[in-house]
Amino acid sequence: MAENNNRERGSSRRAFLRSTSALVGGAIVGANARVARSSHPGGSDEIKVALIGCGGRGSGAITQALATKGPVTLWAVADAFEDNLKGCLDSVNQQVERGRRDGEPLFKDSKVDCPPERQFVGFDAYRQAIDSGADLIILATPPGFRPIHFEAAVEAGKNIFMEKPVAVDAPGIRRVMAANEQAKQKNLMVAVGLQRRHDPRYIETMKRIHDGAIGDILFSRVYWNGGGLWVRPRQPQQTEMEYQMRNWYYFNWICGDHIVEQHIHNLDVGNWMRGDMHPSEAQGMGGRQVRTGKEYGQIFDHHFVEFTYPDGTKMYSQCRHIEGCANEVREHAHGTKGTLDIDDGSGSLVTTAEGTWRSRAAKVDNHHQEHHDMFAALRRGEIYNEGDYGAESTFTAILGRMATYSGKIVRWDEALATGEDLSPASYDFAATPPVVPDANGFYPVPVPGKTEVMKA
Ligand SMILES: NC(=O)c1ccc[n+]([C@@H]2O[C@H](COP(=O)([O-])OP(=O)(O)OC[C@H]3O[C@@H](n4cnc5c(N)ncnc54)[C@H](O)[C@@H]3O)[C@@H](O)[C@H]2O)c1
Repeated sequence: MAENNNRERGSSRRAFLRSTSALVGGAIVGANARVARSSHPGGSDEIKVALIGCGGRGSGAITQALATKGPVTLWAVADAFEDNLKGCLDSVNQQVERGRRDGEPLFKDSKVDCPPERQFVGFDAYRQAIDSGADLIILATPPGFRPIHFEAAVEAGKNIFMEKPVAVDAPGIRRVMAANEQAKQKNLMVAVGLQRRHDPRYIETMKRIHDGAIGDILFSRVYWNGGGLWVRPRQPQQTEMEYQMRNWYYFNWICGDHIVEQHIHNLDVGNWMRGDMHPSEAQGMGGRQVRTGKEYGQIFDHHFVEFTYPDGTKMYSQCRHIEGCANEVREHAHGTKGTLDIDDGSGSLVTTAEGTWRSRAAKVDNHHQEHHDMFAALRRGEIYNEGDYGAESTFTAILGRMATYSGKIVRWDEALATGEDLSPASYDFAATPPVVPDANGFYPVPVPGKTEVMKA
């Protein structure tokens, strides 16, 4: 991902962006021959899905996948924990049954055919789910595991929907980028859960911006400022590894910090509005002001980052998890001819000397829309690949975290090549995780000016 390539892409971004999606060839090979047969009489229309990571988003994603046009089957499930797996299966079964009972047409052809022999538990469960005979794999674990699971699914020749973020560190991003090249060669679907990319309001807005509605972008401002999230209290029988797995949000090797886990959505829009150019460097500041208890592991509660793009323009980014402050989850851009304000609730507003323009497309559930789009494309035999921007937007967020943790100016190419590896030595509930608490139960928190973010 050389900076030069990025510059070239920046200069030709208008032309590049006239096409809104990255369609990778129409040929249908390997895993996709079966899916594309759907339009042929006598061919199987059914798309079998294996879900890896059966928590909140995994349960939501599989239910949305089941509620798309055409027969979709939940075929296999995998989770590190049996209670999460069972809870997900119960909830999905109930929703499908309710949908059918209520005559909801989108549930007409969907089914849950996931007997105990296709329910897999533990750190290696993902392998069994991938080998279970499914056509499509949904990856919805916390992001620390994504590179391992994505690699395995690509290796097995499966179509993939993977939640954002796609990694938590530079080595993980390099693995995802390499596996994504393999996925392109194998003509596998790679969809990434950055749902704004499938939202008609965002799509029409981006088209306008790429067509020059506000001129050249001088700077953008992106925000995910809100309150905090859940804590799952420590249980007496838990090993340290189990405790951290249950409380993954607060440990960087699994989560990447909230700038990566959550703010990625807004950073992705910042890159998207520039034709998928990514920043060349970042500098910023952050810390933990109120979320200082031991139950909050090691992550910060606020970050402010100034990203610089290869063309010299800036993206100012704020994310905060502190109750009682001014909240905002939005994106804005300031150009040579006007401004853009995107609001997920009320839509987009473009303001120029000539007047104002508001997005007109209807508001949709963009989480559901990305599944409608993916299954419809699979059934048409069209394969698209969202892995490049998924990886680059994830790394934009990681770069921001590296800047706030270290307090240094961090450059994309160097950070991608030599950023530290956060992964544990082994994945086992008896193993020691990469960070452990001190005698008082507190975890090491990064200190700007002291913390090193490049590998030693
Ligand atoms: N696109 C969005 O708007 C959106 C919204 C919410 C979450 N997400 C993403 O979805 C992912 C999951 O988030 P969540 O809110 O569902 O978390 P969650 O804690 O509710 O669920 C995660 C599940 O993964 C399981 N798991 C953890 N490690 C595993 C492993 N190695 N193998 C198998 N299973 C494992 C956990 O036991 C848990 O059941 C995250 O990457 C998150 O960023 C995306």
